[in-house]
Amino acid sequence: MGDPYFPKLGNGGYDVSHYGLTLDYEPDSGRLKGEAVITARATQELSAFHLDLAGLKPDKVTVGGKGARFNTVGRELVVRPPDDLDKGETFRTTVRYSGTPQTITDPDGSEEGWLRTADGGAVALGEPTGSMAWFPGNHHPSDKAAYDIEVTVPKGLKAVSNGELKGTRETKSGGGGRRTTFRWHSAEPMASYLATVAIGPYETKTWKTKSGLPIYTAVSVSEAAEGTEGTEGTEGTEDSAGALAQIPDIIAWQERRFGPYPFSSVGAIVVGEDDAGYALETQTKPVFPGVPDTELMVHEFAHQWFGNSVSPKTWQDMWLNEGFATYAEWLWAEDRGGDSAQETFDAVYAGGEGSGGVWAFPPAKPPGPDRVFDTPVYVRGAMVLHKVRQVVGDDAFFRILRGWPSTYRHANADTDDFIAYVEKQAGDKGGDKGGDEGGDLDAVWDAWLRGEGKPKQP
Ligand code: TRP
Ligand code: ZN
Repeated sequence: MGDPYFPKLGNGGYDVSHYGLTLDYEPDSGRLKGEAVITARATQELSAFHLDLAGLKPDKVTVGGKGARFNTVGRELVVRPPDDLDKGETFRTTVRYSGTPQTITDPDGSEEGWLRTADGGAVALGEPTGSMAWFPGNHHPSDKAAYDIEVTVPKGLKAVSNGELKGTRETKSGGGGRRTTFRWHSAEPMASYLATVAIGPYETKTWKTKSGLPIYTAVSVSEAAEGTEGTEGTEGTEDSAGALAQIPDIIAWQERRFGPYPFSSVGAIVVGEDDAGYALETQTKPVFPGVPDTELMVHEFAHQWFGNSVSPKTWQDMWLNEGFATYAEWLWAEDRGGDSAQETFDAVYAGGEGSGGVWAFPPAKPPGPDRVFDTPVYVRGAMVLHKVRQVVGDDAFFRILRGWPSTYRHANADTDDFIAYVEKQAGDKGGDKGGDEGGDLDAVWDAWLRGEGKPKQP
């Protein structure tokens, strides 16, 4: 795909529309058996194509039902279909694979991929490179697809994934052990880094938001027990049930600020506190390490609009994910009688709490793949949005906040798309300030988005 930060991720020549994953996991041994059925369209004539797969062994590959030759080179699975694929042709590739899925360490030292959890299960986290650790695919956010994920685990455990649960069934394994299969469906396009599966002893709960959106939450029994003792959170998140009970309010507030929720269900997965080093906005069900506080939930649910529905074209555009999700936290405080976004902005500018490293680089130009998730991407990214608000005024800004995710709903966008969108909205506003606004916005892009160092004017 030629990503500027992760050049080896993803592959050109085809565009995936659907992944059908059938997984069978044995938590005691850590072994996974999988089958991936990948429906794609060739965007050029192809005699061979690549999928990303790391640490697992492909056992058999077919294309269009016919056996295909294949080999692996590093983290690439190279497939040679028996017949060349025509440009525009839709083709179905089936990969049977197996092995012990691995944890991948990112350039910045964080861990992702397949993580074994303290409750005896496992969780898959994919940002930015982890999804190749559990299924073969075109692992770059620019190629989004629908998913059906079916996971079989020993009876008594649950397997939770993105989207909606379509059914469960009981089977017996060859060895006679009872097993349960969970079938999950995600109709809306999903970038592969947002796909997840969480396996373990989960307490699950289903209910609905006020607007009728189905909610499915899964809390690892380790955390559920922990929570009832009274975890210290903020705003009354004393246990997981109390924390997750805020989902309907958070989503209702976000729908007012960002427009309609972009997916057909919502929820959360709470793994053990030490099972993951960070939360992740996995589509429809963010993963939280331990009982989340309200701010963190606001952040991860904001990503459902900013990142998951409007996805980055490349990993350079990460500030469009993290800047918006951070600004959502600021706005939540503002709307709930806490600090205004202006106060938060001023405190960061003055060097207050959380501002360490914020001037290290401009948010649209991280110095390398190990810095894509650093403070400037989050906090200075949010400051860019606040500067836009100052220039265009609240009315236009809140129109942009709803219009951007509506215009790029289920699509991909980059920094240039954002600049063009904001300038158009500011221009369309008409009125007295029309002429200067372009100039003021240019100053925001130059100093705040792309300029090195701390901008002179707050
Ligand atoms: N995107 C996550 C969030 O802020 C954080 C995250 C995911 C992350 N993967 C990471 C941070 C890898 C550092 C490294 O919601
Ligand atoms: Zn985030």
